[in-house]
Amino acid sequence: MRKKLAAGNWKMNGLSASLTEVSALIEAHPAPVCEVLLCPPATLVAGMAAVAAGRIAVGGQDCHAKASGAHTGDISAAMLKDAGASHVIVGHSERRADHGESNADVLAKAEAALTDGMVAVICIGETEAERDAGTTLDVIGGQLAGSTPEAATGANTVIAYEPVWAIGTGRTPTLEQIAEVHDFLRAELVKRFGAEGEAFRLLYGGSVKPSNATEIFAVPNVDGALVGGASLKAADFGAIIEALSQA
Ligand code: 13P
Repeated sequence: MRKKLAAGNWKMNGLSASLTEVSALIEAHPAPVCEVLLCPPATLVAGMAAVAAGRIAVGGQDCHAKASGAHTGDISAAMLKDAGASHVIVGHSERRADHGESNADVLAKAEAALTDGMVAVICIGETEAERDAGTTLDVIGGQLAGSTPEAATGANTVIAYEPVWAIGTGRTPTLEQIAEVHDFLRAELVKRFGAEGEAFRLLYGGSVKPSNATEIFAVPNVDGALVGGASLKAADFGAIIEALSQA
């Protein structure tokens, strides 16, 4: 049985005052049935971990492939862990696009996370042009194969399918399109990792809201969500946690 995971990605949003949303979330959902993860900007990891006190997991949004060194402005997995993070998102499409990260870069970051005993949340997803061209499964199959470490297991790695065109747009794929991709991802993981492939959590991300969460969570092989905008407010993210707990 895969434990469901509600993950929030705050992206470049949030100041220390925003941590009140985390205390409000924990107060309103003291014992969620699903796992809950919030990934704030690096500046808030330690503060959020203090507020969370182990009741929800805290993650980074990116890490460098190396543990330390002359890389001004970068943060290593070990540093995120030291600040209280247990997870780290790698390969988000905004980093693949804004920072030119390749599958090989994402793979190296994911390996760094695993080496430091963290859980890597590896993001993959097609652009609208790729979907229109009918190459969605080729693209995400290549990203999955190229970004997932050989040492990945269901315990140390989560895969997030986030179609680029659905992020922050209010548009989502049809439930059939989500099912097609998640079934494909499951089959690819089983092909590569054998029975262990059944243990990986597959998250859907892209315009998940309280209003569409229940129907998305009913799709087979959707084990949770990676939520952007709707994770910033305790009321919205809380409603998504409730929807997942009942799925
Ligand atoms: P939105 O939920 O704001 O569309 O963002 C999704 C996302 O990119 C999460 O990583």
